[in-house]
Amino acid sequence: MSSRRRTCTRRAIIAAGALGVCCVGGGTGLFFTARWLDEPESNIGEVELETPLFIPPLLDPEPDGDGRKVFDLTIQTGETQIVDAGVSETWGINGAFLAPTLRARRGDLVSFAVHNELPEDTTLHWHGMHLPAAYDGGPHQTIRVGASWHPAWEIDQPASTLWYHPHPHGKTAEHVYKGVSGLFIIDDDESDALDLPREYGVDDIPLIIQDKKFDGDGQLSMDPGGFVEQFGGAASFGVMGGDILVNGTYGPVFEPTRRLTRFRLLNGSNARFYNVGFSDDRSFRLIATDNGFVSGEPVELTRISLGPAERVELVVELEPGDDVILRSFEQDLGSNGQQVGAEDTFDLLRVRAGDELEESPDLPEELGGGGAPAVPDDATVRSFSLDGHSSINGKEMDMSRIDLVIPARALEVWEVRSAGQPHTFHIHGATFHVLEVNGSEPPPELRGPKDTVFVGPGHPVRLAVQFREYTDPELPYMYHCHILRHEDNGMMGQFVVVEPGTEGSVSTTIETHDHH
Ligand code: C2O
Ligand code: CU
Ligand code: CU
Repeated sequence: MSSRRRTCTRRAIIAAGALGVCCVGGGTGLFFTARWLDEPESNIGEVELETPLFIPPLLDPEPDGDGRKVFDLTIQTGETQIVDAGVSETWGINGAFLAPTLRARRGDLVSFAVHNELPEDTTLHWHGMHLPAAYDGGPHQTIRVGASWHPAWEIDQPASTLWYHPHPHGKTAEHVYKGVSGLFIIDDDESDALDLPREYGVDDIPLIIQDKKFDGDGQLSMDPGGFVEQFGGAASFGVMGGDILVNGTYGPVFEPTRRLTRFRLLNGSNARFYNVGFSDDRSFRLIATDNGFVSGEPVELTRISLGPAERVELVVELEPGDDVILRSFEQDLGSNGQQVGAEDTFDLLRVRAGDELEESPDLPEELGGGGAPAVPDDATVRSFSLDGHSSINGKEMDMSRIDLVIPARALEVWEVRSAGQPHTFHIHGATFHVLEVNGSEPPPELRGPKDTVFVGPGHPVRLAVQFREYTDPELPYMYHCHILRHEDNGMMGQFVVVEPGTEGSVSTTIETHDHH
């Protein structure tokens, strides 16, 4: 267990001394991390990667008599043995930690009973899903303690790897960090027709990557612990841990049995960015981004950057006897990038192939995902400036304020920039394509359909955002930074989608019910 990394390094002590503050080890509250003193963090070679990777159970119910797939989800507390230091108190869905992988097809009617057995109110948001705002599970769809929530909708979007997590106003960071998150896989006829690894848990493997911080008793700590947090108040990205879990497994190993393995990666971390590749620099092929397959052929890469809430599907080829490590490498995220881990390096997962591997079909040459749509000259263009750590265009999130009114089915251009800090920008209920990064064509890995994208100093983005037909003049969707501390601190806005032509008659204040 590597929480020893959190004790003071010599360099930190020297720097702390120079700043006239004291480095106190031993307690969870006052570890003086090196983060603000520019020492990169690493676990490379320090963690034994020998614990079999946990595969979250698949929930893929048969449709009932009415053609509905009914999912029963209970959000609960529990205890989980994650690290040697002790049994951790965790939260999960239908289990103590994390959540089952949900699976449905385009055209399915899905229906949920979500029970809140936590000691506090929460919500459950379907990240990346296109659905009516009433079922989005954002901060307006509170599930009270002991209550149940019953959203239902028809799946109507392309095959993709989505995820789901709580979204309570001001408390998303804590609820996600304690363990409530899972994948939501969508299939469709097109994905069925592609020769891709598709056997869940065998050659189609979820990888939910999350950094955690454990205290000396093995409890999850949310103390950011850095200089800015201790002395600079809210100007922080929130918790950054040095212990990396994949599907909740500390020190994981996965043993493939086939030549090709498809990994569905989710960066489910609160703030940390990763730059994923293999220890031997072998290439892999990117087949899908947040909201579906890339267009054209698989993209050959040796690294892929993942900010909080971003997903990719990768296919890697192995030879019998291969023993490699999936790793996070240094990357350039612009100024202040080191505060979200740009300089840190981690072993994530050991991939150890047996002496014999079953054959896999060759990857298709055409994946069939849609490229960026042609944006008409008269498209609405909106600009968003992510300011500091808690506002967008100078405003902090207000539950009772509608920031934008968007006509149904609109294709809009959103320009998003940040002068000072790295962020990931996410839009609910829509899919976007990156048209430009800092005025230039995006790199191949950013050309697929997305719902979350890195925005930072030197990395402004221009997005073509396709909204859907679900209208509700009273209930908003969210757009926000997916660094969860930023989201909780107010770097979030609200939009309603309405019948075209009715924009002018929509009220921009909404009643909110006090849930406290
Ligand atoms: Cu992943 Cu507003 O959410
Ligand atoms: Cu979302
Ligand atoms: Cu942010």
